[in-house]
Amino acid sequence: MLKKNGLVVLSDEIYSQLTFEENYKSISNFYPEGTIVSTGLSKWCGAGGWRLGFFAIPNQLKDLKNGLKTLCSESFTSVSAPIQYAAVEAYTGDYSTYLKTVKKILSFTGNYVYKNLKSNTINVTKPEGGFYLFPEFTNTKFSSSSEMCKDILNKTGVALLPGSDFGLDNNKMLARLSFTDFNGASFLKNTLGSKKLDDADLKKHAPNIVDGVSALKEWSNSL
Ligand SMILES: Cc1ncc(COP(=O)(O)O)c(C=O)c1O
Repeated sequence: MLKKNGLVVLSDEIYSQLTFEENYKSISNFYPEGTIVSTGLSKWCGAGGWRLGFFAIPNQLKDLKNGLKTLCSESFTSVSAPIQYAAVEAYTGDYSTYLKTVKKILSFTGNYVYKNLKSNTINVTKPEGGFYLFPEFTNTKFSSSSEMCKDILNKTGVALLPGSDFGLDNNKMLARLSFTDFNGASFLKNTLGSKKLDDADLKKHAPNIVDGVSALKEWSNSL
């Protein structure tokens, strides 16, 4: 369809390296001549705020590429020097062991949250990568997702972003939940090698996740 109509696809693949089952396939495999892939280092490096992103643009779209280059050089100038040095390291070093361990932690943590949250009144999809879930609370009395998130924050201390912040219907009780509230350095240090994670590891290295999930569940049950 895209090919037939000659549409240009902008595919934001910044989370693709955090796919748990290594089965990620970019749309550029199927439509290389019309796909622009955007990505960056902040997600897979666990370096939020270290903003270095790039586009991979096919030769067939070189006019667009030249236009973009002009636009970017006039509006962003350049990435700061420390981030450029970090990027050289990130893209030239071998971080396969680090990435494997990060995915093991995120997969285990995400699945823990999923399993413990999913219920008759909370719809949530099993995570396949990255570090977010998007639960829907189906038995609420709120008139908007932002009102619901305020109530959750006040009563449980858990901060979620309302679905309306992502352009979703404000009447749908959706929220974005990030499951990264833990000390990554110590969790990583204790997870290297072939060690399988269990719930006790999560309690030890990510107590806020365990407490947050049970507080959310309790909040939902009390409605
Ligand atoms: C889907 C998506 N694309 C791109 C970005 C941009 O990442 P950064 O500004 O950290 O490079 C983000 C960051 O939150 C994101 O969630």
